[in-house]
Amino acid sequence: MSALLSMSGVTAGYAADIEILRNLSISIEAGRITGLIGLNGAGKSTLMKTICGFLRPKAGSIAYDGTDITGIAPHTLIDRGIWYIPQESSLFPYMSVDDNLRLPLERLAHGGTADVDIAARYEDMLGKFPPIRQKLRDQAGNLSGGQQKMLEFAKAYVVRPRLCLIDEPSIGLAPRVAAEVYQWIELFSAGGMAILLVDHNVRRVVKMSEYIYVMSLGEITAEGWRADFEGDLHEQVKSWLGVNF
Ligand SMILES: Nc1ncnc2c1ncn2[C@@H]1O[C@H](COP(=O)(O)OP(=O)(O)O)[C@@H](O)[C@H]1O
Ligand SMILES: [Mg+2]
Repeated sequence: MSALLSMSGVTAGYAADIEILRNLSISIEAGRITGLIGLNGAGKSTLMKTICGFLRPKAGSIAYDGTDITGIAPHTLIDRGIWYIPQESSLFPYMSVDDNLRLPLERLAHGGTADVDIAARYEDMLGKFPPIRQKLRDQAGNLSGGQQKMLEFAKAYVVRPRLCLIDEPSIGLAPRVAAEVYQWIELFSAGGMAILLVDHNVRRVVKMSEYIYVMSLGEITAEGWRADFEGDLHEQVKSWLGVNF
């Protein structure tokens, strides 16, 4: 099976002379959760930003759904089905919750996806994220941290991307809310979405992911199936990353 997305030998960074990703290759299969673990500063967010077009690789290539997408602009990649839930907010804080949700839907409707029943999708989303119904008129920026995260996931849910890059979704959230976040990721996955998941909770990433990459200083240093990561995960991660977690 060929991968939904593959990065081959990608080198990328923010400044001309500093490479953050170094000759990095990964594959993301359709309909599967792929996990990415590594210390702070390893380059996990940079990898996601490179996939979704915010950073142009200096070398290497990215293929998606059978075509080369290296250097393609983020909005084009959104139309092609690649969505990014960043660690930081992607919401418009001064707009209502409803408007935050309708913006991506309008893009879908005007992007030639004529067969999308927008109203049905919106209702379906409210069914999956019930607390949002009471908040539709609130300003997105006035929601609690957990509610804003819910809105981020609801937004991705209405869009139904083929590939969703999810960066540190549980950071800063109470354990009860973090548990909900992991349920939404399972919901996405059950619907057939491919997911690249980064989370500081290494055990959780390993538990949820079918295939896992370990990253250190901009390079993949280990990779394998979930079963390969069973056993003393603590010792394994210690040896890969040189730290306790
Ligand atoms: N906007 C930026 N400009 C310059 N350097 C950055 C920027 N964002 C991240 N970096 C640097 O890139 C490296 C990798 O960061 P990042 O991808 O955020 O790592 P991770 O997500 O694994 O914690 C770090 O050294 C960080 O300082
Ligand atoms: Mg990060």
